Amino acid sequence: MQTTVVTKIDESNIDPQVIRQAGQILRSGGLVAFPTETVYGLGADALQAQAAANIYKAKGRPSDNPLIIHICCFEDLKKIVTHIPQAAVRLADAFWPGPLTMILPKSKIVPDETTGGMDTVAVRMPANRTALALIREGGGYVAAPSANTSGRPSPTLAEHVYEDLKGKIPLILDGGAVGIGIESTIVDLTEEVPLILRPGFISLEMLSEVIGEVRTDPGIAAGGQDCRPKAPGMKYRHYAPDASMFLVEGPQERVIAKINDLTRAAVQEGKKVGIIGTEETARYYEQGYVIRIGSRQEEEEIAHNLYRILREFDQSGVDLIYSECFETPRMGQAISNRMMKAAGHQVIKAE
Ligand code: TXA
Ligand code: MG
Repeated sequence: MQTTVVTKIDESNIDPQVIRQAGQILRSGGLVAFPTETVYGLGADALQAQAAANIYKAKGRPSDNPLIIHICCFEDLKKIVTHIPQAAVRLADAFWPGPLTMILPKSKIVPDETTGGMDTVAVRMPANRTALALIREGGGYVAAPSANTSGRPSPTLAEHVYEDLKGKIPLILDGGAVGIGIESTIVDLTEEVPLILRPGFISLEMLSEVIGEVRTDPGIAAGGQDCRPKAPGMKYRHYAPDASMFLVEGPQERVIAKINDLTRAAVQEGKKVGIIGTEETARYYEQGYVIRIGSRQEEEEIAHNLYRILREFDQSGVDLIYSECFETPRMGQAISNRMMKAAGHQVIKAE
């Protein structure tokens, strides 16, 4: 066990001393958790094999699941890829720094430990000043998965990182709550038609507007049943709370009635039930521990609150979680994909 120091840092007034220390840890092969605009990341020097290996150990992450390399300026991309296609230049122009990760052919300098042995590399430039300053100070290439224990919901607060990784890493930079709350969109540019491997805040429509035709990996929607997703990380049960979670689908009144029925039956059996409702529906639930995820009209709010709520249910010790489903036309599958995985694809129809 080591001592985990949590240091507050203000993105709009960064203490250079703190960044210098954090950068020093990264350069010497150590781990630092830091805020990004999507979720907290667990950083290590991406070009040191042993440093990347340390990440897998701290997270308990399967070693075939590759990491994203975070950079702080577009120029730095050249060193870690063999080729920069026009589409990458355009997407970087439009969305970097921001919640978009691109898959590109990797150069020799990137160790196998970082890419899980793949011949491609995932790269992103995060839109968070603390993150960018840390990357610069840490040598320019920071491999960072979400800073949670493998399989748990991604951290959207420094407290979540501490919960999972205390005693395992030396430093957490606490920049407060993240903005977006779900991980970056991943687009694979090594395919003939660019392919979305993980949906996120940047939607298929937004990408298409910049580079033309874009497809979504069919393995994402299939739920890993008959079609394997191309991003190795998308095949794991993920983002999951401890309790067994069910999504209840159908017209709103039917969903509320169904959740009330299910909850009544479970409470009778002595179970503790959590319910994910909305501003519009929460008051109609008769029993159970009801958490409002936000307004049905505000998909950004739903994305922002989702992981925190899953962790809150864990803390409250519920045995079962019933959740409404949400229409999220702007973000497309980004939210439903996380919710389906958190629920292990358990869906109940309320007809
Ligand atoms: O928003 C984010 O992307 C956050 C923050 C910290 O930047 N990071 C993040 O990393 O979500 P992680 O490790 O939790 O997810 C990385 C995903 C995994 O599903 C992994 O399989 C996929 O990216 N991935 C990485 N390299 C890949 C590659 N070369 N080919 C296909 N998928 C890749
Ligand atoms: Mg993750």
